[in-house]
Amino acid sequence: MREHGILRRALLVYSATAIKVRGNPSAIAPEALQKTAKLFKAFGEEYHEKKLEEAYIFPAVKKGGGEAAGYADVLIVQHNRGREITDYIISVTQGAKLGATNAEQLARALETFVLMYRNHAAREDTIVFPAWKQTMTGKQLDEIGDKFEDIEKEQFGGDGFEDAVKQISAIEGSLGLADIAQFTVPPAPKVSGTSAEGAAL
Ligand SMILES: [Fe+2]
Ligand SMILES: [Fe+2]
Repeated sequence: MREHGILRRALLVYSATAIKVRGNPSAIAPEALQKTAKLFKAFGEEYHEKKLEEAYIFPAVKKGGGEAAGYADVLIVQHNRGREITDYIISVTQGAKLGATNAEQLARALETFVLMYRNHAAREDTIVFPAWKQTMTGKQLDEIGDKFEDIEKEQFGGDGFEDAVKQISAIEGSLGLADIAQFTVPPAPKVSGTSAEGAAL
């Protein structure tokens, strides 16, 4: 499910923006948030969730029973709550500047949305999708793969994924988040008192 990679990058934009919204909301250009929410809606909610997960994957997993089946209902509740939050983000980012009154509420909505979707996608990746694959033979899996490609073409009139990568890359660029090297963790702190030398002292 390569779509999750796009959604994760949108969540990273939300996390970075939430900090700035709380610190200095007037310094934020709402346009980048607006574009991210619209991408999440078109690519995540209206395609990945509605056309693939809710139409094919969750019903098959529910029918298959077991641990994964118990996830389907709560994941749908989370899709619906996510849609409400996305619409909220789109509505409060219409103007040229973010209002200070909205700032705290918006920051909180972004942070809780990120937390929900990090949990959501991680469970889908490790429990729900593997269980779904188990419900099919190799041949059926190939067939459904082709069907999903047709749905993607129908929804976006071409390669929706490639276009989504371009969109999220442009958003990251506008926010100074494009260079991945900035996220390389600094060297580990020195631990005092545990080396042989330290112990001798
Ligand atoms: Fe989902
Ligand atoms: Fe998903």
